[in-house]
Amino acid sequence: MKEINLTTKIRVYLIDECTDIEKKLIDAAKNATKNAYAPYSQFKVGAALLLDNGEIITGNNQENAAYPSGLCAERTAVFFANANHPESKIGAIAVAAYYKGDFTKDVITPCGACRQVLLEIENKHKSPMDILLYAGSGEVYKFDTIKDLLPFSFGDEML
Ligand code: THU
Repeated sequence: MKEINLTTKIRVYLIDECTDIEKKLIDAAKNATKNAYAPYSQFKVGAALLLDNGEIITGNNQENAAYPSGLCAERTAVFFANANHPESKIGAIAVAAYYKGDFTKDVITPCGACRQVLLEIENKHKSPMDILLYAGSGEVYKFDTIKDLLPFSFGDEML
């Protein structure tokens, strides 16, 4: 028997310790929660992507009366970016959530399906992206690559 241990690095910053562009991206994610379409959960999520041309793309969750037909904020943003800027690498993604009158005190982390989609886009561009998860408490959890959020993943190299 052998044992394999996988490690994940998460750095926790105070918002004030973030760079200006990181702060701008986090603000864009927070702002994007305002247009979330979340009549069923009331849980409004915003995602902001920083493209390599400096452009910021935002998305938010889009719910549906047929619940599984809805889509998370992260995938809304990534699919828009890949549809409209297919050649642009994504350098970073910021995510924030707003619920019952305030930003969630703790970070929310992308669901499994969104992690898989973020992996696909990292692999497509052969370029890791920073992942910035905003907590209303004033902290930002930072990952250097989606692989730290989706270890031992299935990607195109396995096909
Ligand atoms: N949601 C996101 O948009 N992103 C996440 O990372 C977690 C969950 C959405 C899906 C659904 O519309 C609502 O939040 C409640 O789960």
